[in-house]
Amino acid sequence: MSEHLLPGLAAEELRRVRAPLESAWTLPPAAYLSEDIHDLETERIFRKTWFPLARLEQLAQPGDFLALDLMGQPLLLVHGVDGQVRAMSNVCLHRAAPIAEGSGHRRLFTCPYHAWAYDTVGQLVAAPLMEGAEGFDPAACRLPQIRTEVWEGFVMVNLDQNAASFAPQVVGLTRYFANFRLSDMAIVRTLTFDSAWNWKVLVENFMEAYHHIATHSQTFEPIYHARDSRVEDTDGPWAILHMPSSDPDAPPREHLVRGLEDWQARDLFAAVVFPHFMFAVNGDGLFWYQVFPEGAGRLTLRIHIGMPRTALDLEGFEEMADGAAAVADHIHQEDIAANDLVWRGLNAPMTGQGRLSPLERAIWQLNQWWLDRLCDQPGA
Ligand code: FES
Ligand SMILES: [Fe+2]
Repeated sequence: MSEHLLPGLAAEELRRVRAPLESAWTLPPAAYLSEDIHDLETERIFRKTWFPLARLEQLAQPGDFLALDLMGQPLLLVHGVDGQVRAMSNVCLHRAAPIAEGSGHRRLFTCPYHAWAYDTVGQLVAAPLMEGAEGFDPAACRLPQIRTEVWEGFVMVNLDQNAASFAPQVVGLTRYFANFRLSDMAIVRTLTFDSAWNWKVLVENFMEAYHHIATHSQTFEPIYHARDSRVEDTDGPWAILHMPSSDPDAPPREHLVRGLEDWQARDLFAAVVFPHFMFAVNGDGLFWYQVFPEGAGRLTLRIHIGMPRTALDLEGFEEMADGAAAVADHIHQEDIAANDLVWRGLNAPMTGQGRLSPLERAIWQLNQWWLDRLCDQPGA
């Protein structure tokens, strides 16, 4: 059985994607443009893989909560009075109104429609005027619970109750970034962008440094040469792009993350846990790209800037945080221009697949993983 079962994608096109990196091609345009493909991704990828919903420090106290939609499912993330952070369905068990909005601190979540009230673990504790409802037992009513794990300070959720645990899938990646102590980072600024592209356009752009030579010719290329970038070996659903400093003999400059080796303090690193949990780190902190696909050609991106907690009390910290946010914004504006170009081209009727550069190994890795998940015959 071949992989031609993907709607709108020819078997020959998929064979070219499956080729070894040295002779591999990009995904065909339909993989980005087709709503049918997006529906398949939703069913087979987004509703089955782990998603970073928040940072633990956003839910520091019992009663702290955050309400967010994930692939059409309203979710309520709560730090319970029992000390545990958990995600649950944010849909009332009465007549389906979402219960909470935004973020804040509460011991009781009261539905705005008929005032059914839930506690911090999702247990129904009050349902006014229900006395005549035969056999109705509030004690048996609890909001459906969502799989939740904390990894390096990220609160990860998975809509699939049967999903394999997250941490064992990323052991190699966790070890690679151990010195950066991601769990000790705190989010200090967040930038939000709504963009008219497929999510894979964003991930591909994030995971190769080849485009430094043109898109970032005045910003990244002088300090992280495209030609020196390399993709580390992987043994799981993730990729790491290492961008060495163009001046490896320079003494490491002052940096905020303590305990790094010199090369770690000098270089830039980008990572993706498939499909789209992306972050970059350097000697000063973390840039977490949180992606919310909203259709084949739409997404919302939040770029969260994190710094070591130890930096929060430093003199000039606010200026440092503003500076990091300004750099992230500037670089992303350059990437927006590139991704806009790609999106325009992908929508053109004469566009086909393109050849990958050996520098684009992480894109190739994502493509193999994507086909494994999407095709009826994994690995075919
Ligand atoms: S829908 Fe929530 S109380 Fe009626
Ligand atoms: Fe870029």
